[in-house]
Amino acid sequence: MKTLKHFLMAALLLAVAVACGPKAPKAPKILVLYYSQTETTKTVAEAIATRLGADIEAIAPVAPYNGTYQETIERGRKELQEQSFPAIQPLTAAISAYDVIFLGYPIWFGTYANPIATLLDEVDFSGKKIVPFCTFGSGGLEASVRNLTAKLPESTILPGYGVRSARIEAMPDEIDRFLKVGGFLAGEVEPLADFPDAHPASEAEAAIFDAAVGDYPMIHATAAFVADRAIPGGTEYCFTSIDLPREGMPQREPQEFKIYVTALDGQPPVFTRVVR
Ligand SMILES: Cc1cc2nc3c(=O)[nH]c(=O)nc-3n(C[C@H](O)[C@H](O)[C@H](O)COP(=O)(O)O)c2cc1C
Repeated sequence: MKTLKHFLMAALLLAVAVACGPKAPKAPKILVLYYSQTETTKTVAEAIATRLGADIEAIAPVAPYNGTYQETIERGRKELQEQSFPAIQPLTAAISAYDVIFLGYPIWFGTYANPIATLLDEVDFSGKKIVPFCTFGSGGLEASVRNLTAKLPESTILPGYGVRSARIEAMPDEIDRFLKVGGFLAGEVEPLADFPDAHPASEAEAAIFDAAVGDYPMIHATAAFVADRAIPGGTEYCFTSIDLPREGMPQREPQEFKIYVTALDGQPPVFTRVVR
């Protein structure tokens, strides 16, 4: 009897010790929230949600942008000029229940698409960690993150991910790396070296620049300076570029901006983003 009592007492003490001891850190609750007009951003959102086992929700404008590309451009530009952003359907997810929100959007007019402007006006993201991600024709992650940071001073904006829609096939590997670097997925990643100081672009480097941006209609620029670094399977270049005058267009002060180019071994160079 005495032995049973001792045993029960020991078991009780052990249970109390376990209950009061150090707890494993609680996994953050993650929501992937995105707007996508033509489903490119949706593929990134789904890749993130699948890898993290996270909840996912699409933002739906009450009046969808279902016209032609040109009609969307015209409607979107008018809304932006008038700062009259589109009504969106109420969210199903309760934002207050989440710690981290992966917020995805296409870049429109250099920043997040108009339905995101409505979302940020209507929903309280204070105290949340926000991980921006986006797709674009040529670039805009950096400017959209600056705008998000200004719009959400009570949130923590973490490093984001952006990909050109023309390079969407590179996204799955890049997303794996991005989620590991951010600590959202387990696994080691080889850190990338910093870019060294830029030097004037040589003829051979200018040719790489021209091959990467040559047929992209929105870029009419020349490579002035460049820095490069090794990446897995090739080289990444950061070109400092200068706009060239366009025939028949009003001349303006030439602007300097960065164009990143990736040249994987045995493949033609491609530009990955323009940063203005
Ligand atoms: C109204 C509108 C404005 C756009 N503005 C830009 C822009 O400023 N910069 C850019 O790189 N791409 C721009 N794009 C291209 C989109 O960002 C790109 O096609 C994106 O991948 C579309 O994503 P979605 O399929 O998820 O809608 C624009 C597209 C539209 C419809």
